[in-house]
Amino acid sequence: MKIYPYYPKPISNKASIFTRYFKNNRSWLDSLYERSYTMKMGEFKVPLLKIFLPNEPELIRRIMVSEVEKFPKHSIQHEMLSPVLGASIFTTNGEVWKKQRELLNPSFEMVRISHVFDLMNDAAKDMLGRLNKRDSTIYSDMDQEMTFVTADIIFRTILSQRLSKEEGKKIVDAFVVFQETSVKIALQKIFRIPKFLKSKKVEKDYYESGEIIRNSLATIIQPRYDASINNQALSEKDILSSLVKVIDKDTGKAFSFIEILDQVAMLFLAGHETTASSMTWTLYLLALYPHYQEEAYQEIIQHCASNEFTVENTKNLTFLTNVFKESLRLYPPVSFFPRETVEDTVMRKKKLKKGSIVVISPWLMHRNSRFWEDPHMFNPYRFDNLDEIEKYTYFPFGMGKRTCIGTGFAMQESILLLASILRTYTLELEPDFTPDIIGRLTIRSANGMPIKLIKRLDFT
Ligand code: HEM
Repeated sequence: MKIYPYYPKPISNKASIFTRYFKNNRSWLDSLYERSYTMKMGEFKVPLLKIFLPNEPELIRRIMVSEVEKFPKHSIQHEMLSPVLGASIFTTNGEVWKKQRELLNPSFEMVRISHVFDLMNDAAKDMLGRLNKRDSTIYSDMDQEMTFVTADIIFRTILSQRLSKEEGKKIVDAFVVFQETSVKIALQKIFRIPKFLKSKKVEKDYYESGEIIRNSLATIIQPRYDASINNQALSEKDILSSLVKVIDKDTGKAFSFIEILDQVAMLFLAGHETTASSMTWTLYLLALYPHYQEEAYQEIIQHCASNEFTVENTKNLTFLTNVFKESLRLYPPVSFFPRETVEDTVMRKKKLKKGSIVVISPWLMHRNSRFWEDPHMFNPYRFDNLDEIEKYTYFPFGMGKRTCIGTGFAMQESILLLASILRTYTLELEPDFTPDIIGRLTIRSANGMPIKLIKRLDFT
């Protein structure tokens, strides 16, 4: 019998607007129909607004590549994330975005893989130190560890600091609350929920959690920003140093403190939450399919038998890379991208009025049976031959000019972390475990990922 990795079972009957609101409030993936996985273009109405879900390569190309200016990022996303991200490049549009990206690019030179690889490797070794202390006879949550190690890597590369256990817990806990409440706040807006029905607690938790994250980052940035404006040279060669030094050639001005805080907060969140999600889902899949786990292990032993992983030897891990790509297909961390129409337009004979919401979803495209054989099955060999994958049907890192700035960084980090874990341990999933998949800002498992780590005898 075939074993399929878990995904939320689609609903069969047409749901009322109330059911849809409550299902979306928990997780948008719970509101999908069977038909959503085969459709070319979905449409649903909320009071005074239409939301469209194009699910056709040609439409995805139009929105993300050829007519990208006509479909900017939706202002709701900007509003929803602003308590943490302020006005950072993840959500801005037009000239503001262009300028920010221009100013951020030199800083991003800092994350050239060869430069940050050693920092990633140090964090991976610290992770193994923590995992080694675990009781190898019990199933314990790997999601928490993946969240910590990916946040630690971002801390080391952006701020040249290790993440302490206490600081990590404070920020991660606050972000869990922020994820949950920000989606609720956005849905209240989209569904036009009247003020008297809105929860005051949700709003309070939303702003408070945002403040905790920003204050933690501001405390670290402030002394280094002050040092730079007092003309003291910054010794660290990290992204923060580069952001502090960058000058806008048109105005001659440097980033202000708040502008730097916005970009650092964005890089911190965009850079660890997504990778943590993808790592947890990949470990789930590897634990679910021991034969693929063994194949990945054999490859690691063949190419990286020495103690040190390097940029060069991890490049040879092609099967493991395909496992990771397939994991990103089944569980794309960013499962939907909201855009807005700036003028009336037509798609598949449907009229889209200016101001409509257009949602592009890699979750739906990656699982559409028109483009993928046995779409809900885990099969890393799909990526053996990239020519067989139709264009505009696979985009876990987005596409076009708004594509993820951290793609190379995330791929290297994930392969290194996976190789470090698989070379040291066999993974065993808790029997009968079913992840409680929640689709919010990223796709996470609400009940964690209980995995037993059994030390391999042939590698110590
Ligand atoms: C597996 C890991 C990751 C995934 C799946 C991912 C996915 C994405 C996606 C889908 C977008 C585009 C969203 C849209 O078009 O609406 C995006 C944008 C972005 N990502 Fe990532 N990301 C990952 C890791 C990272 C890392 C490690 C960094 C930074 C260190 C990063 C920084 C960014 C930034 C700055 C943007 C905005 C780019 C712009 O609009 O100009 N991401 N990411």
